[in-house]
Amino acid sequence: MSGVSDLQLEDLPGVEPHLISKLKRAGIQSVLDLAVSVPHELAIGDYEGNGIAADVETISELVMRAQKALTDSGILTKEFCTADEVLERRKSLVRFTTGSANLDAFLKGGVETQAITEIAGEFGSGKSQICHTLCVTANLSKGKGKGRGKGLDSIIFIDTENTFRPERIHQIAEARGLDSEEIMKRVFVCKINNSAQLEAIIRNLSKSIEQYRAKLVIVDSIISLHRAEYPGRESLAERQQRLNVMLHKLVRLAEIYNIAIIVTNQVQSQPDNFFGNSNSGADSTRASGGNIMGHACTYRIFLRKAGHDSRIAIMVDSPYHHAYDQVRFTISEKGVENAAAADEGNKKTLESSESGW
Ligand SMILES: Nc1ncnc2c1ncn2[C@@H]1O[C@H](COP(=O)(O)OP(=O)(O)O)[C@@H](O)[C@H]1O
Ligand SMILES: [Mg+2]
Repeated sequence: MSGVSDLQLEDLPGVEPHLISKLKRAGIQSVLDLAVSVPHELAIGDYEGNGIAADVETISELVMRAQKALTDSGILTKEFCTADEVLERRKSLVRFTTGSANLDAFLKGGVETQAITEIAGEFGSGKSQICHTLCVTANLSKGKGKGRGKGLDSIIFIDTENTFRPERIHQIAEARGLDSEEIMKRVFVCKINNSAQLEAIIRNLSKSIEQYRAKLVIVDSIISLHRAEYPGRESLAERQQRLNVMLHKLVRLAEIYNIAIIVTNQVQSQPDNFFGNSNSGADSTRASGGNIMGHACTYRIFLRKAGHDSRIAIMVDSPYHHAYDQVRFTISEKGVENAAAADEGNKKTLESSESGW
């Protein structure tokens, strides 16, 4: 991972030493840390009370210089690129298999790097099961990024709901005939108890990504703690702002490190209501959460129960899917799997009876 973290703050031209010391005290150690910082957050001193005590303009200027340094060294994409440069960058994109060929096909090859994929759905819809399965299957993907030793990539699993189960990872790996011990050594789990802790972990995530050589970061779930700690309409604006800061950071990390990011989001409503397409106007709280998520997440997938172990994934937002593409899968001992042939046979009935989706 040389290059990304090598650029030192001292290498930035024209930055006064006293500002560098302040940045370091605020936990900003490298040019990369600075480039992915949110100026407003630094200015208000969110870093355990250690803000850098400078105005937002000064900090914005510093962040822009850091971003320029990374752009100049080819780490960050330029603001404007020619289409062929964009295409070249997309060639380094990696897709991780979900464990179900049908679900992979639905995702045009699997969970993509340089993107955030949101998995939304009600309780028990299979969000955490997809995350657990990916811990086992992600490393099986073909065509992984160049220059990385096979078997060295790891996964960071940020668990905010206390639902991560190593036994389940073990079971999925064994059921697939894989080396469960080896796989479990590559999953770095971080249990989070409150929203401030989640924000701190995400703020410092670049260090963990480098340290563990992570290629996939899972946040299960991204909003539940904030939703619980910032209830009601009066705290909605602050909650959304905090969510926005976290997602913003994740977007940049996905791009800079060419990693895949999965965030889960528990929702009760139907996708049309939740994703802000409702015309009723009755549920603007959800629509607003949806808008912030909608801007940051490249892919938004809604899961629905369709029987005991059968589930349907619906693509609600994507740059190159037909809206509301859907696929059926099941949850078994092996984690997520293709729906059984019998279920596939029912697909036509499903599509015609639920065409409103
Ligand atoms: N070992 C297993 N074998 C088969 N199905 C399982 C297993 N573990 C969990 N499931 C299924 O997964 C569902 C829970 O899904 P989960 O991903 O935890 O939901 P959520 O969307 O709330 O995260 C259970 O209701 C069950 O149907
Ligand atoms: Mg869950």
